[in-house]
Amino acid sequence: MAQNEKNSPMSKVKKAIIPAAGLGTRFLPATKTVPKEMLTIVDAPIIFYVVEEALNAGIEDIILIQGRGKSAIEDFFDTSYELEDKLAKDGKFQLLERLKRIRDMVNIISIRQKQPLGLGHAVLCGQTIIGNSPFAVLLGDEIMVPNSGGPNTTAQLCRLHEELNSSVVAVMEVPPSDVSKYGIADVVPYRDGVFKVQSFVEKPSKELSPSRWALPGRYVFESKIFEELKKGKPGALGEIQLTDSMNSLTQKQNFYASTFSAQRFDAGDKFGYLRANVELGLMNSELRKEFSKYLIEVGQRLQKETGNHS
Ligand code: G1P
Repeated sequence: MAQNEKNSPMSKVKKAIIPAAGLGTRFLPATKTVPKEMLTIVDAPIIFYVVEEALNAGIEDIILIQGRGKSAIEDFFDTSYELEDKLAKDGKFQLLERLKRIRDMVNIISIRQKQPLGLGHAVLCGQTIIGNSPFAVLLGDEIMVPNSGGPNTTAQLCRLHEELNSSVVAVMEVPPSDVSKYGIADVVPYRDGVFKVQSFVEKPSKELSPSRWALPGRYVFESKIFEELKKGKPGALGEIQLTDSMNSLTQKQNFYASTFSAQRFDAGDKFGYLRANVELGLMNSELRKEFSKYLIEVGQRLQKETGNHS
């Protein structure tokens, strides 16, 4: 679980967009009626971890970009009178406090993306609420768990934005075989762990990729990105790509990229989702002992099975 780390009181970044309008086809049939952002990691939905990261970075307003059938997300952050009443009557105060903390922790502004025109379009939908201020974007199915004692990734980007007065994005190094799954940044070194971005490209082939620095889904933008998004034309996969507008912005303003000190889980992908459950399960104090014992047993069993087959 993210640690409580407020960004600098000076940070101007107070609003964040969380795009959560995707259809979640990679998770069918589960996502036929449940938004993928509401799938559970240990005992809380994916979106809870993302919102918590934003709040711990000092964000005050969350602009949730939603599609049809996603109202369960809003309900999750709302009051549930019957449930709270029942928990109070049953004396389950610890659980009650946890639920209250979730509903009190956030001011959610919900916007409908009426057509699934891509991530760039989803971010543009937040413009009326953001106005001319810098803002963060956290992809709604990516979970970042800070390494022990390490900084919260969004807080880290907010601080860097404050210092460099420019748009900033998190980057991670991926193997060449994976560059085609991500937006990729072409960068030159600026200082330890920070780069100046020359250009961005969305999901390039291994052969054409300018680097192995991939975008894991955490951004802080100057509001000028909206001007580029408005000009956005369908790019890779026929969608209006956020990466294309970021690329246009690099031609007009400084844009920086930063490595981060967190474990990242793509919880919108089946394997990433399972990994997140295992790793966060191991971090849970109530489950840790029994769950590690179980995983060791599974490991031994698998080793035996593979041993037998080889
Ligand atoms: C999106 C972005 C891509 C980014 C990725 C992170 O792609 O377009 O630039 O690297 O998220 O997961 P998607 O995974 O939605 O295809």
